[in-house]
Amino acid sequence: MRVVTLYSAGYASNSYLIVDEESKEFAVVDPSVDPAVASDFFNDGYTLKYVLLTHGHFDHILFVDEWRANGAKVCIHEGDAEFLGDPSKSLYLQFFARDTKHGDADIVLRDKSIIKLGNNSIEVMSTPGHTKGSVCYIFDDVMISGDTLFEGSIGRTDLYGSSNTDMRETIEKLSAIDKDYTVYPGHGGKTTLAHEKTYGGYLHN
Ligand SMILES: [Fe+2]
Repeated sequence: MRVVTLYSAGYASNSYLIVDEESKEFAVVDPSVDPAVASDFFNDGYTLKYVLLTHGHFDHILFVDEWRANGAKVCIHEGDAEFLGDPSKSLYLQFFARDTKHGDADIVLRDKSIIKLGNNSIEVMSTPGHTKGSVCYIFDDVMISGDTLFEGSIGRTDLYGSSNTDMRETIEKLSAIDKDYTVYPGHGGKTTLAHEKTYGGYLHN
């Protein structure tokens, strides 16, 4: 499947489209941009199936309801499901002084949940640490890592639901993956798992 990066300059965060050309189904990950940016896909007959959230922070869920209005089912891990309607947990209040609440998730995810896009499977990997319900989405040779893993860094662990203990376990879990993946983080440029194990400073071989 194809990954399209959508950059939201205002929040320095990345949204991604996952596109299956065969079925013409697609999903958006962490929508911090208006669905109008995908108008070419809508106009060309592609069907939006899912909003996949890596976690529940404001800069990853900003346009969740607008994308839902275009037919998507909103998916988030059970550990962060409460963030959608809680501007204190999603950090809207602290960063924005905004009382923004979103509707509930349509699909609550767990570790190893599978999302189908056409004949393809996207696997949910639970990676708590930054938040309790942080996940990576994995398919083909792609890992969409949210605020768990960045190029040369990892997510902060001083927020509601954060845990250093969880993050240490997540680092071990990611380090133990043999296969290499292209990593698409929630902020900054893409990297690879192999690069992060060797040069990133957090994972290890
Ligand atoms: Fe975050």
